[in-house]
Amino acid sequence: MNASLSSNNSLENDLAFDIEAVRRDFPILSQSISGHPLVYLDNGASTQKPQCVIDTVSNYYENDNANVHRGIHELSQRATDRFEAARSTVRKFINAESDAEIIFTSGTTEAINLVAHSYGLGHLSKGDEVLISAMEHHSNIVPWQLLSQQMGLELKIIPITLAGELDYPAFLELLGPKTKLLAITQLSNALGSITPLKEMIDAAHAVNAKVLVDGAQAIAHTKVDVRALDCDFYAFSGHKIFSPTGIGILYGKRELLESMPPYQSGGDMIKVVSFSGTTFNELPYKFEAGTPNIAGSIGLAAGIDYVTKLGIENIAAHEHTVLEYATEKMLAIDGLRIIGTAKDKAGVLSFEIDGVHAADLGTLLDHQGVAVRVGHHCAMPVMEFFGVSSTTRASLALYNNTADIDALVTATVKAAEMLA
Ligand code: ALA
Repeated sequence: MNASLSSNNSLENDLAFDIEAVRRDFPILSQSISGHPLVYLDNGASTQKPQCVIDTVSNYYENDNANVHRGIHELSQRATDRFEAARSTVRKFINAESDAEIIFTSGTTEAINLVAHSYGLGHLSKGDEVLISAMEHHSNIVPWQLLSQQMGLELKIIPITLAGELDYPAFLELLGPKTKLLAITQLSNALGSITPLKEMIDAAHAVNAKVLVDGAQAIAHTKVDVRALDCDFYAFSGHKIFSPTGIGILYGKRELLESMPPYQSGGDMIKVVSFSGTTFNELPYKFEAGTPNIAGSIGLAAGIDYVTKLGIENIAAHEHTVLEYATEKMLAIDGLRIIGTAKDKAGVLSFEIDGVHAADLGTLLDHQGVAVRVGHHCAMPVMEFFGVSSTTRASLALYNNTADIDALVTATVKAAEMLA
């Protein structure tokens, strides 16, 4: 890794890391698209991978590849050691107490489904209330809708304000003795709003409800300490933190995970199988049926090490500077409206322009090398609330700089003129 302790240009002067060196760590960023330097602003959908992550995965396949927890041979032992070391890296990164609390999943979606099925079916009953917010991504809505239909639960929705902030007084009113679970995002993918997580967790615990945090968008942008938060479950995906796709994490408090039935069944999650019955493996393996994504987990540890070396607080400060710069520059564009103006906000700039369809804008931006996401961002209730069918979303990561924003502004102005 090349990140060092200096920097060289205007707004980026106070940076604790060298943004140009960081950009060089991500080989994909140096290419051109349609004759323009790539400006990658679709990090909310997926982040790019530094060379160290690419090398780690490739090195694993070149040297150590084998199945884990099954072989007596050298390669299997090496693969197992690297897989379990990756679990410890994740545990330290989010400050969980024990490796047993770190479950490897395929991503945030599977982690939330695991809780819905296992905790839901094991601990909830008809008439219980589950709270989610109006700013959730579909993966933190649909599992709860399905579970509510299956079990006769009440799904209650915490409203948001016109700024895209969580309506905290309304949340407190919704909390009651029937509330058994709060499933809440830490950072909205469509709006960038940060939720008042610690207060919400404490308030939910005061009525004996458990709390699941969807950390998919937050994990690469803000410090996460599951013990300081005191959340019961925390879910995130590797690919949103500079690591491979198909790997994710469910953190759960040990006593809760112990009390939950298995989610999927198969190899590795058992101790003894006979036709008269099966005993299940201990944590975390009880929830890891089948051959896991070994290369993905090792790659995730490399991604986390990269972030840790730069410092998550440094990353957050840098992205905040770039977001403020972007907000000011984009607002100067005629007819542009930002959707999501929360005071506490990170890394996401969703907008629409009078008379311009987001899909057309996205296509013209792409022709100028600028990658953004357009559409409903898998958060259709958010779009409905703001009375739009889609927005254009620029989402930041640690390697974005003010030059990226200048390119976005120039390309947006040009595209809007062509589409007007
Ligand atoms: N959740 C991802 C996004 O916001 C896919 O784009």
